[in-house]
Amino acid sequence: MKINKKQIALGSVVLLTLMGCYSPQNTTANQARTRESFNKGWSFARFGPMPDKSKKEEPKGLEAVGYNDAAWRKLDLPHDWGIEGPFRQDLPGNTAKLPWKGIGWYRKTFIIPKADAGKRIFIDFDGAMANSKVYLNGKYVGGWPYGYTSFRLELTPFIAFGAKNTIAVRLDTVHWGSRWYPGAGIYRNVWLVKTAPVHVAHWGTYVTTPKITKDQATVKNVVRIDNQTKAKVSATVQTTFFERSADDKVGVEVAQTAPKTLSIDPEKTGDVSLVATIKNPKLWGLKNPNRYLARTTVSVNGKVTDQYDTSFGVRTIKFTAKNGFYLNGKRVQLQGVCNHHDLGPLGAAMNTSALRRQIQILQEMGCNAIRTSHNPPAPELLDLADKMGMLIMDETFDCWFKGKRKNDYGKLFDEWHVRDLTALALRDRNHPSVILWSTGNEIPSRSSSRGLKVSQELTDLFHKLDPTRPVTNGADTPQVHMKNGFQKTVDIFGFNYKPRYFYLFHKVPGNENKPYFGAETASTVSSRGVYFFPVNTKYRADFQIPSYDIQAMGWGSTAEQVFFGLDKHPECLGEFVWTGFDYLGEPSPYNKDRTNLLNFTDPVKKAKLKKELEALGKLKVPSRSSYFGIVDLCGFKKDRFYLYQSRWHSDLPMVHILPHWNWENRVGEVTPVHIYTSGDEAELFLNGKSLGRKKKALLKDKPPSNTGKRPKNIQDLYRLVWDDVKYQPGTLKVVAYKNGKEWATAEMKTTGKPTQLDLTTPKANISFSKNELAFITVSVKDSNGRIVPKTHNQVDFNVTGPGKIVAIGNGDATSHESFQAPTHKVFNGLALVYLQPTGRGKITLTATSKGLKNKEIIIEAN
Ligand code: GAL
Repeated sequence: MKINKKQIALGSVVLLTLMGCYSPQNTTANQARTRESFNKGWSFARFGPMPDKSKKEEPKGLEAVGYNDAAWRKLDLPHDWGIEGPFRQDLPGNTAKLPWKGIGWYRKTFIIPKADAGKRIFIDFDGAMANSKVYLNGKYVGGWPYGYTSFRLELTPFIAFGAKNTIAVRLDTVHWGSRWYPGAGIYRNVWLVKTAPVHVAHWGTYVTTPKITKDQATVKNVVRIDNQTKAKVSATVQTTFFERSADDKVGVEVAQTAPKTLSIDPEKTGDVSLVATIKNPKLWGLKNPNRYLARTTVSVNGKVTDQYDTSFGVRTIKFTAKNGFYLNGKRVQLQGVCNHHDLGPLGAAMNTSALRRQIQILQEMGCNAIRTSHNPPAPELLDLADKMGMLIMDETFDCWFKGKRKNDYGKLFDEWHVRDLTALALRDRNHPSVILWSTGNEIPSRSSSRGLKVSQELTDLFHKLDPTRPVTNGADTPQVHMKNGFQKTVDIFGFNYKPRYFYLFHKVPGNENKPYFGAETASTVSSRGVYFFPVNTKYRADFQIPSYDIQAMGWGSTAEQVFFGLDKHPECLGEFVWTGFDYLGEPSPYNKDRTNLLNFTDPVKKAKLKKELEALGKLKVPSRSSYFGIVDLCGFKKDRFYLYQSRWHSDLPMVHILPHWNWENRVGEVTPVHIYTSGDEAELFLNGKSLGRKKKALLKDKPPSNTGKRPKNIQDLYRLVWDDVKYQPGTLKVVAYKNGKEWATAEMKTTGKPTQLDLTTPKANISFSKNELAFITVSVKDSNGRIVPKTHNQVDFNVTGPGKIVAIGNGDATSHESFQAPTHKVFNGLALVYLQPTGRGKITLTATSKGLKNKEIIIEAN
């Protein structure tokens, strides 16, 4: 099947879909197939470059059954050895100043019962960083170099049934290069899968919905069956469809296909296409992310040999050049963010509850889409996006055949790219949340004739594996790539930055009918709770960046400049802001990252930036995580959160004031106040006295320049600014209006001195069996219970009961405090404790700090 190029050329990629995903099943009802977590009870040791700068020789024979690993560390997966630190000033800020480069070995023994003899046994890694090599009982089984790809290895020929088996996994991040913190280790989940010899292949279902009307949806399930026997078999395959709840419960049956029988040669695979009709389908959407379950059974000679579940949704997507993106026939603006895969102080170690919390925070802002920059995400991200109603741009690579860093994917591309891309497409093509495939980000050498050929090859491969979704790529030099033929190799054009090209893209002959969007936008930088004066676009200090949201990287822009481009171009699909969350590594502008040089083709600009970076190189820059996030590394909202919320959640009555109002040394001095509101007007009061009522400007009064040059004087369209407020302690109050009616109010008060600690959590009951974490906010408050800005108190923590602290952070990009130690400073009044249950029961966390009243919180794990 090929995507209909004509349709794309007509400027309207109509894609009727889909979608399913493999879901864990380890029920006893389904003895034909089991899938169990394989995370518990591993031993771990590290070699090569060590965190203390020493080198530890890697002995030979660590895979041997008889190797004595008694002295190795005992741990459960997922595990990221890099995040354990310590932060080291000598290590590059771009990759978080963490000692993640090393050789890691994991070993585990396990029994496979005799009764399983005759079954096929597989191990599924959701991701292992990097260059994995897996051994079973001393023999090499296989491995996968790209640490972000999910992969399966078959263990059957190496298994001792009814006996102890020893698995050993070697990982090597010494030979991995990255532009951000990649993590290190078996950082995602691992599964043990057992099947009968005739079974649904790995990621072997492909559910699409080729026709959807209000009354019915045609559902097609193409199933691949593996015959791992030495005989020809006749397999009967049938799929039954059920409703599926957000908590994975199987609901009522809604349809069933007719059974189909196919004959498969020994040790071969066979495909069968099954079709049914779902009456009155409940569509998958952002507000109601309804899902269905396709349960496929395989029988041979009347005996069920496999039962395989696939979650999917019924929805339509359509991308148009003239009117943007449509979900289920309704225009939806992509209000997206780019996110890296790390989970802040947890590092790259996967935890579903931490990822869910990220999505909840983004949804509160009105965000509806995530770009998995710049690599395949954890499968849990897609499951959560399906369940929570988020759209996903699913990305493969940060480079192709020419690398950006030593030992990065550039080294693997020739041998591995088909396998990596295929793994991503097969794993993810059933998810209703996935709307776009991305072949990569800011790819060097993409303009060369080889680059253009490769771009087309990757697009074609996605089309072959999944003709229901369009393919895109994040282009950093749109001025080149929108007209050198590259634009023809993608279905949808993705701009990285440079909103001026929004104005120019469709003016290039041939591009008129191609949909486009901002694949990476803004790159505004700020530190939560930090404000410096005078307020201008340059002033920074202490390796922090003021939070007035007016400072952006040279190649980027403020949020508002992108808003303006989008408002003047409603045909644009929308944007993905760089970034939703701060991430580990890449602390621009306080880095020595030369990646950004890639963004300039102009030699003058390039030389200037090079000089700046060299000057920066002479300083001891402490920064180890990004300043790009709308939300900080721990999930605390920066001011910018409310700017995006005011636009993306415009029906929510809200108003936000910045800065905080504790400026004891600025009495009488000019201290600008900025307001973000979903209203259109606001009046500001200081200590009861009105400082005037201001109205947002109207878009129609702001013509864009006809060259599309960076727009000026547009801030007043999106925020209200009182530039001449003279500071007096007390209360700032704002009343916002919409259409002349009162809409929302907020206050910012000068606080008293810090007197007490507080511990709060949105969820005090957590599930031990689901490995949920408790996220506990630590704050420093005054005697009236107000968080005191500019506080950096050291806080000590103690846990009693069945729980432990897995991480503590505060969102300060310059902090070198350990994420693991039971003590941490707050940063501008806040820190976050990540508490993990080690059993069921009551866990008590106590926080103490010199000069402040203690606080205790109880978490119930069940
Ligand atoms: C972009 C790049 C991102 C990130 C960002 C900020 O050009 O695509 O991965 O590096 O710049 O530096």
